[in-house]
Amino acid sequence: MKITVVGTGYVGLVAGACLAEFGLNICCLDKDAGKIALLNSGKIHIHEPGLQELVQHNLSAGRLKFSTDSSNLDWADVLIIAVGTPQSDDGSADLSFLNGAISDIATHAKTDKTIMIKSTVPLGTAKMVSDKLKLLAPMLNFDIISNPEFLREGSAVRDFLEPDRVVIGYNTSKAKEVAANIYKPLSSKGIPITYTKNTTAELIKYAANSYLAMRIAFINEIADICEEVDADIEEVADGIGQDKRIGRHYLRAGPGYGGSCFPKDTLALNYAAEKIGTPSKLVQATILSNELRKEKMADKILNNLKSGNTVAIMGLTFKADTDDLRDSPSIPIIKTLIEKGCKIIAYDPCIKILCEPFIHENITLATSIEEAVEKADIVAFVTEWNEFQLLDPKIFINNMKNPLVVDYRNIFDPFIMKNLGVKYISVGRKNA
Ligand SMILES: NC(=O)c1ccc[n+]([C@@H]2O[C@H](COP(=O)([O-])OP(=O)(O)OC[C@H]3O[C@@H](n4cnc5c(N)ncnc54)[C@H](O)[C@@H]3O)[C@@H](O)[C@H]2O)c1
Repeated sequence: MKITVVGTGYVGLVAGACLAEFGLNICCLDKDAGKIALLNSGKIHIHEPGLQELVQHNLSAGRLKFSTDSSNLDWADVLIIAVGTPQSDDGSADLSFLNGAISDIATHAKTDKTIMIKSTVPLGTAKMVSDKLKLLAPMLNFDIISNPEFLREGSAVRDFLEPDRVVIGYNTSKAKEVAANIYKPLSSKGIPITYTKNTTAELIKYAANSYLAMRIAFINEIADICEEVDADIEEVADGIGQDKRIGRHYLRAGPGYGGSCFPKDTLALNYAAEKIGTPSKLVQATILSNELRKEKMADKILNNLKSGNTVAIMGLTFKADTDDLRDSPSIPIIKTLIEKGCKIIAYDPCIKILCEPFIHENITLATSIEEAVEKADIVAFVTEWNEFQLLDPKIFINNMKNPLVVDYRNIFDPFIMKNLGVKYISVGRKNA
């Protein structure tokens, strides 16, 4: 089976490399010629553990190729859509990249194809795609699979190769059969495959992301309560999470959820639910709770600030083990600090050149943790990189005149910080 993956971003590249690892012949297609040239040289344009090795291995095995050439839309039997579906101004999903990909397919496909939609898309998109293709390419037959992707940046390769489940929405028996063949290496290992209708598959993705976002918003609100009553959020989360009905995952208090999925997917579900007259109060509350949290997170720094202070921001990406800055909690924090006249020295293990939205005369980038700490009056940890978790807290007393640490990820132990003489502010725990 030959597959062309349309869109070689975080999802498309991981899916392409992993499907090649299954033994399938894969072309990863993208409009971005620079990205494709880099990939053809065996290097990858994103930070994702294990991905570079997988790409090199499958390139040299001849199962994986990268191209900007639209004729690959006809070369393959199956076309996997993995283009972005960002947020529109009204909260709905912007389908312009998806519509562009469908028009490209209609233009270049000369034989029947199976289309697998991996992008996160609104309810009814599979039918919309089918209808559109019937109109644009009436001589051809297109079977449509809705196959939402659940990988997490930072563990994307493992998530793809060992998922909890695979969800397949299908509109014809051929579509189901094609999907079953593609995922045979996983189903034969006992990984559950859920077969369902296209719309159900589309809703599963939005519901899963909204539920996870809701857990994060919930534990963050409980963290606020902890701060007022001198309770400890880590112990509360353990106490809740040990209940098997609940579990500990996604109960980490922090600066609010961000990234390229939860913010836009909660908004898109909210938009869709309102449009069909069944608004979700829980999703609305989740969105609002997270927005308010992000707005007030800078206060933890501002409340301890003196004018002209330099703040070291440790971690710019929205989570550890990715270079993805989309909707990162660091963005509103830095924006507020800059508005208040602070100078920022940022350090991130993965960001080596400052890019938008961090281009500003008062923002510089440190090349090491030590440099950032030495130059700062306040050190704020925004991303939970391993490098930070392994840090010896003595670095603060050795390098700062009045050591002051704001820890949005609860990386350090408040008692150790207190004993060292570091003023320490964390999330949902008593300040040392
Ligand atoms: N990033 C994640 O962690 C993640 C996880 C699960 C699902 N998703 C969903 O997967 C989809 C893709 O997300 P992403 O983060 O990989 O996006 P991305 O922005 O990283 O990648 C999209 C790629 O598509 C390319 N592209 C756009 N139009 C094209 C066209 N017509 N032909 C060829 N290439 C085209 C772009 O150049 C870009 O490289 C989104 O719907 C997203 O919600 C993302």
